[in-house]
Amino acid sequence: MGFIDEINRRRTFAIISHPDAGKTTLTEKLLLFGGAIHVAGAVKSNKIKKTATSDFMEIEKQRGISVATSVMGFEYDGYKVNILDTPGHQDFAEDTFRTLTAVDSVIIVVDAAKGVEAQTRKLMEVCRMRNTPVIVFINKLDRPSKDPFDLLDEVEEELKIKVRPLSWPIGNGPQFKGVYNLFDESLYLFEPSKQVLEDGISIKDLSDSALEEQIGTDSAELAREELELVTGVYPEFESETYMNAEVAPVFFGSALNNFGVKELLECFLKIAPSPQPAQAEERLVTAEEEKMTGFVFKIHANMDPNHRNRLAFLKICSGKFQRNTNYHHVRIGKNMKFSSPTAFMAEKKSIIDEAYPGDIVGIPDTGNFKIGDTVTSGEKLNYKGLPSFSPELFRYIENADPMKSKQLAKGIDQLMDEGVAQLFTSQFNGRKVIGTVGALQFEVIEYRLLHEYGAKCRYEPINLYKACWLESDDQAELDDFKKRKLQYMAKDKFGRDVFMADSAYMLQMAESNFKNIKFHFKSEF
Ligand code: G4P
Repeated sequence: MGFIDEINRRRTFAIISHPDAGKTTLTEKLLLFGGAIHVAGAVKSNKIKKTATSDFMEIEKQRGISVATSVMGFEYDGYKVNILDTPGHQDFAEDTFRTLTAVDSVIIVVDAAKGVEAQTRKLMEVCRMRNTPVIVFINKLDRPSKDPFDLLDEVEEELKIKVRPLSWPIGNGPQFKGVYNLFDESLYLFEPSKQVLEDGISIKDLSDSALEEQIGTDSAELAREELELVTGVYPEFESETYMNAEVAPVFFGSALNNFGVKELLECFLKIAPSPQPAQAEERLVTAEEEKMTGFVFKIHANMDPNHRNRLAFLKICSGKFQRNTNYHHVRIGKNMKFSSPTAFMAEKKSIIDEAYPGDIVGIPDTGNFKIGDTVTSGEKLNYKGLPSFSPELFRYIENADPMKSKQLAKGIDQLMDEGVAQLFTSQFNGRKVIGTVGALQFEVIEYRLLHEYGAKCRYEPINLYKACWLESDDQAELDDFKKRKLQYMAKDKFGRDVFMADSAYMLQMAESNFKNIKFHFKSEF
């Protein structure tokens, strides 16, 4: 197969949802279709359980398993599918944000009874920042659900994207009869206990009496009415508006019952984008370019403290990646060869000789890589990562064992490279502040510093509201501000100035006293 064909047949995406909407279940069903796993439950075991919120030992165990499911690749119908796993737990939302920088599209799972939930809204904001095309799968129709029109309105309003249903549910809960697939004009009947896959019944003309025969007069009447409304209200599906992230196609189904999943997958493969051009600071890079380029979007530390190897996840953006070939690590300006790059085929990890744009390659690393690093065939290129977002929680981190200060510094440094949390160093007194999205990360950091680096840390409370990155055309005012607020000024790990506001009120005052300074909750504006 030629290079271009290899690119065109790749679909690299992530499934995102609010916890419990059914992301894990849907992922598993897709893998079952791909023959990548053979029993349900294989992915489930990777999930960080709700009950584990305060049990970081459990999290550590889960983290070990999750290497295997970080990327789930499989072949289906001539396509090479790469699903990038995202942690459902909201304390790890940053990981999910970063993973979204490595995908070409996204499937959003929404619970039909609960509608759009908080975490989904947040993740959608990241998709919007990058114009990522999304498909929505409304799940759990086998349970009493909200009205489908209301659900669609909710998606439009909450996720700020137009929708176009490509399937339509007939009833829900105990009365769930099935879905009519507008994409292939077929009726799929639902039988809760039966998980066999049957082809749909082709009903091109909805006035056909076959509809009554299948679902009864009342349901047929209602389905006709609703479907007429659907075609009247929503614009025709156009792949262009989907690709431009203006319209989200919507499917209905029940992942647990493997219902509506195959149709989703098959339509997804047809319409979802193959590897898209990637934006570097210097220029836009297309997948078809001959020279290899890629960036690291995730780093996974080894669980075994005796082998402090890490695995860097490299997303290939252009060209063919080859084993034992000289590549350029742009940030440190060094050339290196990778002798054992791995690919991920669901449960299996194996050494590969080559990879194509859209693929994720795992590279064993002893500390050369940071999240966001670019690797190329030689060009000095820097892929644009995601901006840093202000953390929600802050604590001072102190050394609790004076004999181990070097280990502590190294440990903190490496954990920050991995993106476990953000580090801010006070410009006033040099104290270090760790900022996280969730409370869990503090425990993870303390535990890992001890077990992987032999260093002991101690936290001290600090009362902070937000970290703000500063923007101003007025250098004099900016300098004046930094001088006056020195106590609250810190540097982030890239050496950028950050104002650590201790309350919303303090921030408000700063904004009104320094009119020429903009305060941002993220590092790029
Ligand atoms: P998540 O990854 O988005 O957090 O969700 P997950 O797939 O784990 O699903 C959350 C719960 O919802 C699970 O039940 C799962 O079985 C259930 N579920 C998923 N899809 C459907 C569906 O189509 N219909 C119904 N009725 N339920 C569905 P649980 O009780 O939390 O877990 P488990 O003990 O069943 O594994």
